[in-house]
Amino acid sequence: MASEQQQQQKALAITAKGGPWTLIAIPIPEVERGNLLVRVEGAGLNPAHWKFQTGVVYPAFFGSEGAGTVVEVGEDVTGFEKGDRVLFQGKAGWFNASRNTFQEYALVDADLTAKLPQSISCLQGAAIPIGLTTAAFGLCQAFPDRSDGNTQARGGAGLKAFWEPGAEGCYAGEGKTILVLGGASVVGQYCIQIARYMGFSRIIVTASLKHETHLRGLGATHVVDRYADTGASLRTLEDKEGLKLELVFDAVHAAVTQAEVDLLAPNGTLVSAGPLHDELLFEGGRRATAIVGSVHIHRELGKEMNKRLGGILEAGVIKPVRVEKLSAGLAGVADGLDRMLRGQVSGTKLVVNPTETRDVV
Ligand SMILES: NC(=O)c1ccc[n+]([C@@H]2O[C@H](COP(=O)([O-])OP(=O)(O)OC[C@H]3O[C@@H](n4cnc5c(N)ncnc54)[C@H](OP(=O)(O)O)[C@@H]3O)[C@@H](O)[C@H]2O)c1
Repeated sequence: MASEQQQQQKALAITAKGGPWTLIAIPIPEVERGNLLVRVEGAGLNPAHWKFQTGVVYPAFFGSEGAGTVVEVGEDVTGFEKGDRVLFQGKAGWFNASRNTFQEYALVDADLTAKLPQSISCLQGAAIPIGLTTAAFGLCQAFPDRSDGNTQARGGAGLKAFWEPGAEGCYAGEGKTILVLGGASVVGQYCIQIARYMGFSRIIVTASLKHETHLRGLGATHVVDRYADTGASLRTLEDKEGLKLELVFDAVHAAVTQAEVDLLAPNGTLVSAGPLHDELLFEGGRRATAIVGSVHIHRELGKEMNKRLGGILEAGVIKPVRVEKLSAGLAGVADGLDRMLRGQVSGTKLVVNPTETRDVV
């Protein structure tokens, strides 16, 4: 793809501290050993994009979820060829434009890339990487070793990884219960699907009740109104059904309250999509940790998952969350992030097709 005079592409960046999202022209990256160059035909908007708009250097680049078509294959890559459809997690490489997904062409590590089945569009594919990784790693990573006194060390609940052979129904018959706070969020919807696949008996979620039918379809067994007193609703379940909460997954970060922590069974685990709140008290062996849903930080897990992900998606084990495509390609991102910041995106993932971006003026 690259020539002596590198071809240009359209990209979205913040060009100066505190500045707005701006369309700029940057060179199309050259493919590197072990990498693929992908035409990005789907890019997902993520809460991190409105939460952290500060670069280390400028212009700063942020897109972190993508799907598209392989246009160049680097040396030493096996298993991929030109024309393959793939999905991948962009790298929040704020020093380096080439690996983010708010651009038309992105460079990706082949061993952290998954094949995208024909049944899933690139826009749907772009709604998978971070949400699924966060849910999956939060469930399967080992609980962090805290022996050095670092109470903020991150990890997960230590369950079997859903992509491993034998994961299907592996907990069936054990009466396992999970509470997913924020079941309608992207992370929450993938968490529900993984828990169902692995055979959890009770998958209790908090969500707006308008999502109840959809979430039950994904595998939720109980939908608790997020706007009601969730602590009281859960205590009712505890009384009626002898609920024992061994695992709480806070998929929206900020939702968890002391009442919910206190509902954890002794030695129960809370995993959170964001940093833990200092004011929460954990007693009786109860414990909590925050997740890092990044295949770039947890490369070995990322490689294992991505190797099998294409087949898992093809088999329909995990379905992409619903997407809403924004118009005008990358030019639609800023308004979409603004809607997310205002809480106006509900049960769906906003996506764009970067190749639809009009010329940079
Ligand atoms: N640690 C990591 O590596 C990592 C990775 C990815 C994401 N995250 C974090 O995970 C969180 C979720 O990300 P996402 O992409 O899944 O978000 P999202 O889908 O954009 O979140 C919006 C959804 O969350 C629901 N929601 C918001 N607050 C809620 C609450 N208090 N109780 C129940 N539901 C609530 C909304 O419900 P309504 O439908 O009722 O409006 C809406 O459906 C974000 O905080 C994000 O920053 C962390």
